[in-house]
Amino acid sequence: MLRLAGLANAGSRRLPEWAVWLAGLIPLAWLVWLTFTGGLGVDPVRGIEHRLGKTGLWFLIGTLAIPPLRALTGVNLLRHRRAVGLLSFLYIALHLTAWIWLEMGLLWAQAIRDLARRPYLFFGITAFLLLLPLALTSNKAAIRGLGRNWRRLHLLVWPAAGLGVLHYLWQMKIVSAEGWIWAAILAALLIWRVIQPWIRTRRQKIRPGIRAESLSD
Ligand code: HEM
Repeated sequence: MLRLAGLANAGSRRLPEWAVWLAGLIPLAWLVWLTFTGGLGVDPVRGIEHRLGKTGLWFLIGTLAIPPLRALTGVNLLRHRRAVGLLSFLYIALHLTAWIWLEMGLLWAQAIRDLARRPYLFFGITAFLLLLPLALTSNKAAIRGLGRNWRRLHLLVWPAAGLGVLHYLWQMKIVSAEGWIWAAILAALLIWRVIQPWIRTRRQKIRPGIRAESLSD
């Protein structure tokens, strides 16, 4: 296990950020291909919307899973967390764009009527608005400028993910296990995030020499 984690970490250290972006854009390239080859079935707009929403959710949960992955397995992907988070924002922004442009035809009055008809869209929009300042401050200048407040601000990712999952669960026409699996994963990640400071303190008591940096997320 340790050997595998070591190999994964060596690979991760060597992996440039652009390669993570390239890999993260594969689902988008695949979606473009399906759109132009008629691979999205009878309702391509719905297909585009749904695929973008799901991919955004995968990346969002993926971002939150990076610290526990390191704590539980030793695999350290922290240096790629920013790219994964920004990829999540990109897909969610495209998901929103698909709704307003392809489904609503940029007709704002119709969009407002749709919001009243499908209240779960409010959850989605609120989640997007919470993610917006995070995406805008995911750069070195903002991290330096905001200091400790940067960490506080980025805790908004949790309510955003919660609202994203609620939005997903509510829009399901047929109850499917998938939505609940995402909800369970998010709940497990949140529990881990809440108990993690306690685990950290206990570990420090047991092994006082442990480097503070190796415990931070
Ligand atoms: C964090 C933010 C969001 C996440 C994680 C998210 C995720 C999802 C997911 C996973 C689906 C279902 C995909 C499927 O069943 O295959 C979905 C559907 C949908 N989302 Fe979002 N979404 C978000 C924000 C938004 C926003 C801002 C809008 C725009 C108002 C929006 C509009 C829609 C629409 C129209 C659907 C299709 C619903 C239907 O078929 O009735 N979403 N979203």
